[in-house]
Amino acid sequence: MASGTSRDVLGRGLRVLGRAIREQPRIFAVAVAGSVLFGLMVIASAYVVGGVVGKVVVPAVARGSVAGGVLALAAAALFGISVLRVVGIFGRRLGAGYMQYRLQAAYRRRVTRRYLDLPLAWHHRNATGTLLSNANSDVEAAWYPIAPLPFAVGTLVMLVGAVVSLFLTDWALALVGLAVFPALFALNVVYSRRMAPRQARAQRLRAEVSGIAHESFDGALVVKTMGREAQETDRFAARAGELRDALISVGKLRGVFDPMLETLPSLGTLAVLVVGAVRLRQGAIDVTELVSVAFLFTVLAFPVRAIGWVLAELPRSVAGWDRVRRVLDATGEMPYGEATLDPATPTPATLAFRDVHFGYEPAEAHLPGAEVLGAVSFTVPAGKTVALVGPTGAGKSTIASLAVRLVDPGTGTVTLDGVDVRDLTAASLAANVALVAQVPFVFDDTVRANIALDRPGVGDEEVWAALRLAEADGFVAALPDGLDTMVGERGTSLSGGQRQRLTLARALAGRPRLLVLDDATSAVDPRVEAAILAGLRTPADGGAPASILVVAYRRATIALADEVIYVEHGRVLARGTHTELLATVPGYADLVTAYEQAEQEREQPRPYDEVTPLTSGLEVEVDR
Ligand SMILES: Nc1ncnc2c1ncn2[C@@H]1O[C@H](COP(=O)(O)OP(=O)(O)O)[C@@H](O)[C@H]1O
Ligand SMILES: [Mg+2]
Repeated sequence: MASGTSRDVLGRGLRVLGRAIREQPRIFAVAVAGSVLFGLMVIASAYVVGGVVGKVVVPAVARGSVAGGVLALAAAALFGISVLRVVGIFGRRLGAGYMQYRLQAAYRRRVTRRYLDLPLAWHHRNATGTLLSNANSDVEAAWYPIAPLPFAVGTLVMLVGAVVSLFLTDWALALVGLAVFPALFALNVVYSRRMAPRQARAQRLRAEVSGIAHESFDGALVVKTMGREAQETDRFAARAGELRDALISVGKLRGVFDPMLETLPSLGTLAVLVVGAVRLRQGAIDVTELVSVAFLFTVLAFPVRAIGWVLAELPRSVAGWDRVRRVLDATGEMPYGEATLDPATPTPATLAFRDVHFGYEPAEAHLPGAEVLGAVSFTVPAGKTVALVGPTGAGKSTIASLAVRLVDPGTGTVTLDGVDVRDLTAASLAANVALVAQVPFVFDDTVRANIALDRPGVGDEEVWAALRLAEADGFVAALPDGLDTMVGERGTSLSGGQRQRLTLARALAGRPRLLVLDDATSAVDPRVEAAILAGLRTPADGGAPASILVVAYRRATIALADEVIYVEHGRVLARGTHTELLATVPGYADLVTAYEQAEQEREQPRPYDEVTPLTSGLEVEVDR
């Protein structure tokens, strides 16, 4: 993390601050103006207090009576200074707050926007928990020093003003200032250097803790059914304990340095009184000046801390910023081409794989990536249905991802109507192909919103048509509010089969010319699954059927396909009709039979639509 030296951290931290200032220059100027006003008023107040003591209190004590006029004048001056100080504080706080939260919001948006632009390969390498903390605590950490920054800048101006006014008063007192202020500054720098590695570690642990928490919630089902609660809790507790220790070590360091930072200005005041007493006796200064300077050191102590706050937050800011930048600078986004497919022809598309090789990027860059697909070639002719059949891990989902360009082939091409999918625009791709994945995702929104997705031309009529095709119109009509029914987060108020049919309807509503179903109806009753596929092949409304690439296991479903492609270990081993493959390929017949048996044993006691979301994630795939 904070690999560089601490000097590095200071320099890089200042560059992060510079970026913030460049992004919000006006609001920063307002905040600094407020802060400078405040600083100048602090100096002024010291001199007014000195003046009151020297010109009013001392003569009054000597004379035994108070000069009313002078006193009123002094009171008015102090009041005026207080008002200006309040104005200064207001401007600074408001400006700093605006700046900090605007930057946070802007970078949260940028980070989440970037997530959506980055290719699937990038997401495969990055845990969801890390993504969450990038968008949350890392963005916050990056901009933490913004809160005290205007105060610190104003304080620097104030310190210069203070030194100048000290020189104007007396050179000996000025020397005290010249000794104390740089010492304060140096102490702050040492502090922030010591803090750097501790803060970076804490920030990294924060991300890990949130990552583990996220994984446990996400996998709550597995954790519960496998009786892993205790182990999961331990895993979380261990990391939470490390975070606690890291934060305590931050606190310990604070405990050591905070009192030192507090004490130094008091020592300065003491030195002023000692030196001042000598100078007073020498007649170089008068009482007014001595009191002013002593008071100045007292009131300076607090604002000087602002510099320390900024420096102390810099390491955390740099650590957070590095993590945010890793996302913003992440490369590997998929460049889209300029080509479009003629949208005026709502005919089905032809998908062709030509000698496609593919390997997932290894988790560590230096490891070799294993080849997942080798020399895969096949065609889904326009309007035809092709079934992909093969054991778990054969590469079926990978082929599905390549077909809709979630990933790009290593070598070879994937074409749609003869056009390389890499040459298509993003919009054209989205309009022509749709993938329905095995694990359905339902937004926490109404049924209508889930299916229409705000796409132009998808009104209620189209939504119902899509629901009919997905055999989902029946249960949606029976929902309490029909299309307006809210389906809960992750669709937990629906059964697994219902969610699968909603996501299928979502894909169909866009009228794709190529539909890729990756085991998308596994939780739906087999008869319904076959009916859906049959309906897609010959739409009741007389419209053109889509071309379909379907990953399937069930005999009834596979039998509907025009061609079956049998894959094993990333290679196409056989192709032909279901009947042909049953007769000629031993592995194929075994697989289909094994799946049917497994399904019968598993599903017998319950109708499919009662497969709850809790079980749907666990079932389905047959062992190799
Ligand atoms: N994101 C990934 N990163 C690395 N390897 C993967 C990833 N997804 C799948 N694989 C590997 O690729 C192979 C094919 O996986 P997949 O296409 O999901 O098979 P299927 O869908 O036929 O079960 C498997 O060996 C699997 O372990
Ligand atoms: Mg799969």
